[in-house]
Amino acid sequence: MSLLSVKDLKTYFHVYMGTVKSVDGVSFDLERGKTLGIVGESGSGKTVSCLSLLKLIPMPPGEIVGGQAMMDGEDLLTLSEKEMRKVRGRKISMIFQEPMTALNPLYTVGDQIAETIRLHQKVNKREAFEKAVEMLDAVSIPAPKARAMSYPHQLSGGMKQRAMIALAMSCHPQILIADEPSTALDVTVQAQILLLIDEFKKKYGTSVILVTHNMGVITSSADDVMVMYVGKMVEKGNVYEIFNNPKHPYTQGLMDCILKSTGGKQILKTMPGFIPNPINKPQGCAFHPRCPHRKSICMNEEPPVVDFNEHKTACWLYA
Ligand SMILES: Nc1ncnc2c1ncn2[C@@H]1O[C@H](COP(=O)(O)OP(=O)(O)OP(=O)(O)O)[C@@H](O)[C@H]1O
Ligand SMILES: [Mg+2]
Repeated sequence: MSLLSVKDLKTYFHVYMGTVKSVDGVSFDLERGKTLGIVGESGSGKTVSCLSLLKLIPMPPGEIVGGQAMMDGEDLLTLSEKEMRKVRGRKISMIFQEPMTALNPLYTVGDQIAETIRLHQKVNKREAFEKAVEMLDAVSIPAPKARAMSYPHQLSGGMKQRAMIALAMSCHPQILIADEPSTALDVTVQAQILLLIDEFKKKYGTSVILVTHNMGVITSSADDVMVMYVGKMVEKGNVYEIFNNPKHPYTQGLMDCILKSTGGKQILKTMPGFIPNPINKPQGCAFHPRCPHRKSICMNEEPPVVDFNEHKTACWLYA
């Protein structure tokens, strides 16, 4: 049985120009000890999907319009703020796209981690601080005791990411959500951060939701993949299946964007066309203006989800 089962999640933002259907009927399952990769271009609703699970959507203008997120027999979306505070950090932790959203500039890194530990575990101040130093050591921050007494701005970008992982993992959550933990970092630091997440996954059996633009990161780190396009799931399944046999033209396009080597030369292809305006999405399949295989039905009717044994896609090509 899945650890987390999300059904038909809908999160909208009511803004001056109209309604942005940022997440519009997304369903997925996260298995115990596995990594689910969520991939899609900017604005596809990856971050909003994750924030919805923790009820960290600013309301208003945001609204969780519908859906379910079942974990341990309860629907996270129906929990009160008080109940949700027990879920955050202890059951589900999140590494944010921008470290400074998670780290408070006014407190030392060690104090912040210690405080989170004290919120969820029965330990005194000194023990919590010692545990915080252990966590900083576990994420390979050099001289962890001295670093625990630093303020976030005194750390480099890579170290801030590590400190945020230490903070997120300090209560050994069942689920770690890592939202683009790497895009702002150089490639070697990015690889180290992904390795670190993998180590925690192995050590504690943590399940991971890994959000990224990068299909390459997904194929090296995820077990299952969900591809999103302007608020909808377009394809999901086992990573090998998706990698070897992508069904949706959008997934095929993303796969094509992975750095390819041709005769010693590396070329990075980009996908033609643009993500549509989220307030005014194209009718039918939102991808149809960019799709090389579009038929007339694609322009008028939303595609059904077609099931190929553990591999699903929402596309008229197969319906
Ligand atoms: N607070 C908000 N108010 C209004 N619209 C919002 C808000 N937060 C997100 N959105 C909109 O919701 C949509 C999905 O945004 P989201 O941040 O989930 O995208 P993403 O897939 O995470 O993109 P990226 O890869 O750039 O991080 C976008 O159109 C975005 O403009
Ligand atoms: Mg995002």
